Amino acid sequence: MNAPGAERRRSLHGEWTSRLGFILALAGSAVGLGNIWRFPYVAGQNGGGAFVLVYLVCVFAIGLPIMMSEVLIGRRGRRNPVRTMALLGEEEAGTRAWGLVGLLGVFTGFLILSFYSVIGGWTVAYIVEAASGAFVNAGADDVARIFSGIVSSPAVAGVWHTLFMILTIGVVVLGVEQGLERAVRVLVPALVALMLVLLGYSMTTGSFLQGVVFLFEPRFDELTGDSVLAALGQAFFTLSVGMGAVMTYGAYLPDHESIPRASIAVVIADTSIALLAGLVIFPIVFAHGLDPASGPGLVFQSLPLAFGQMPGGVIVATLFFLLLTFAAWTSAISILEPAVAFFMETWELTRAKAAVIVGTLIWLLGFVTVLSFGPWSDFRFWRGTWFDNIDHISNNLFLPIGGLAIVVFAGWVMARNSTADELDPEAGRGYRLWRISARYLAPVAVTLTLLSGLELF
Ligand code: TRP
Repeated sequence: MNAPGAERRRSLHGEWTSRLGFILALAGSAVGLGNIWRFPYVAGQNGGGAFVLVYLVCVFAIGLPIMMSEVLIGRRGRRNPVRTMALLGEEEAGTRAWGLVGLLGVFTGFLILSFYSVIGGWTVAYIVEAASGAFVNAGADDVARIFSGIVSSPAVAGVWHTLFMILTIGVVVLGVEQGLERAVRVLVPALVALMLVLLGYSMTTGSFLQGVVFLFEPRFDELTGDSVLAALGQAFFTLSVGMGAVMTYGAYLPDHESIPRASIAVVIADTSIALLAGLVIFPIVFAHGLDPASGPGLVFQSLPLAFGQMPGGVIVATLFFLLLTFAAWTSAISILEPAVAFFMETWELTRAKAAVIVGTLIWLLGFVTVLSFGPWSDFRFWRGTWFDNIDHISNNLFLPIGGLAIVVFAGWVMARNSTADELDPEAGRGYRLWRISARYLAPVAVTLTLLSGLELF
């Protein structure tokens, strides 16, 4: 029934201890800076409502089937993304060339983590600012000064980036089972609870309605090919799909666990948290006359204004940036893990050695991003600064290209029996829905969006 050679394989790096463990790890990967930092500022830059609508369609119609494809490929191959794709490619189509898709993913992970760690560093720096009471009664100018004091100084931003990278390498050295599951179980719910407190504050700003309208009223004249591509890129980024991170976590998933159920739960949770972040931030932005399109500083310059006004603001702010750091941390771990698994298996390194080598390379590359927010911020080419370019290339181009290859592989190259075997042995309606999106909907939509974003038509 199965493709030849498809006997059950064992994971090379251990397995999750429970289904909840896998859902939590996947949620820990998905929920991070993408929801709270990137979603609001990219939505702000792309005019709000219409962008958000396209983003939601991308998440459920494209991101979800791709997530399921990644998990099923990962669990079937049970190796790092490069070897898994090569192995299944050989098994299903007689060619190991599919390993190149894994290689693109490993490379994309390098690029993404190199800037992700810098922003993670900002959140760590903000824990200290918040705890020291720097935001108490601060106005927009004060907060802007605090923000630029961190990001425009390579020494300051560099130290926090270094610390964040050490934290990330540390957990990856310990391995996927230890710590991660337990941390996410407490921290994601705590983050949501705190965001609900902030939502309560946003409702009192007097600009809550304006924020809601900005976020949800579609004004389609604001929509360009570029912003549709940005919505697709954000969908991939926030769900962690397109580079093999989910595939790598899938490789550690026990055989009997249901992939669709875990994926749907994670996608819904991730989307809710992003929308919640938008509902918190935009009312504050409008209440203080800030520019929603101001870019990567948006969250860091708006939320402190709320913390500075509310009772108990020092504690709420400190807790918030602490939890955001943890959320970023559990995501960063999942960006590093595929490359580490690849290095371990390819050069027979220990986990510790692989993590330190890969982590150090990414840490070094991160300094270009550090500098691009500081002394090199006037050095602009193509889409803007180095950060703007690396962000665009990795999230809006490489993730969709990787995701396209993954979903085409799962939908067209893999035998129906192989995918049904992983997703749903009874091949019911849910399976057929997945297969239609994996074969037609997702590939066509991603291709069209890429082409229009590249202005090829
Ligand atoms: N999804 C995470 C966030 O929203 C970031 C992330 C983790 C990621 N793993 C990834 C992005 C893999 C792209 C690919 O913060």
